[in-house]
Amino acid sequence: MAAATLSARRSYELPLTSATVARDGALAHAAVRCQAVAVTDYLSDKSILVVGATGGLGHPITELLAARGARLTLHGRDEAKLAGMSDWGTTVAGDISRADTARRLVDTAVAAHGGLDGLVFAAGIVAFGSVADTPDDVLIDVFTVNTLAPIRILRAGLPALTESAQAGRDPFALVISAVVAEQPMPGMAAYSASKAALMAYDAAAARELRRSKIRLVDARPPHTETGLATRPRYGTAPGLPQGLAPFEVAERIVVGLESGERDMPSSVFAGSGRD
Ligand SMILES: NC(=O)c1ccc[n+]([C@@H]2O[C@H](COP(=O)([O-])OP(=O)(O)OC[C@H]3O[C@@H](n4cnc5c(N)ncnc54)[C@H](OP(=O)(O)O)[C@@H]3O)[C@@H](O)[C@H]2O)c1
Repeated sequence: MAAATLSARRSYELPLTSATVARDGALAHAAVRCQAVAVTDYLSDKSILVVGATGGLGHPITELLAARGARLTLHGRDEAKLAGMSDWGTTVAGDISRADTARRLVDTAVAAHGGLDGLVFAAGIVAFGSVADTPDDVLIDVFTVNTLAPIRILRAGLPALTESAQAGRDPFALVISAVVAEQPMPGMAAYSASKAALMAYDAAAARELRRSKIRLVDARPPHTETGLATRPRYGTAPGLPQGLAPFEVAERIVVGLESGERDMPSSVFAGSGRD
């Protein structure tokens, strides 16, 4: 890591904002725009693919990356939501449960920006329900979207990320798993297991990729008020305590990325505010 980055890291403090994100059912809008100053210029000019950019975490992460001067390729399922984000970068729609979507997303980013220096995986689905009741098609969907899709997209992005590393551009991949990977929850066994599998994959892959100078970071935020729990693939959410504010979680992730962090366990989000 460059000396400038190390020195910035030593003086790092989590920037405070009064930002809140209100979800109106269609798109998350940041009520207060990015007030945080970049910790380093690490993200500036990087070509970054954000998978799940239309989501409650993906949207503020995208906003923060755009404010830092990243060249973005934004993915979601919903064309209308993506169209509303087109000022921030190239957009590409696709169902990540399909095996061929991974290659298409990476190809779009490389074609739009001449390469790929970063990958953010912020897509996912949740399911609730007992072990006995959760149907097979739900198990398949949860593991396909939450576990298999990020693995496939990372694999598809590796040649371009390797080129970026060889050009000295210090590439990264940031994968959002979840706190339930560390603390699996009853009534959420399938979701917890899909995230724990992803966390294990990330831990092993991070060590492998380090040799190629690609930084792979697994982020495990606690419950966050994105509305995810109100849109389950199956079942009904239990009563959950008030979650963290999406913009603050997004900001903590972006600041961690630019300050060189290699892992973001749930504990690093302790300073993030609640909605
Ligand atoms: N919210 C939390 O409490 C929390 C806590 C820890 C970890 N996480 C994880 O963080 C990630 C983002 O969660 P979130 O809260 O931002 O959820 P969200 O608001 O529901 O956003 C989910 C994103 O995933 C996309 N997506 C879902 N299924 C897809 C599919 N089959 N193909 C393509 N895109 C798909 C959605 O696209 P559309 O917009 O087109 O539907 C959306 O962009 C998830 O992996 C989640 O498990 C969330």
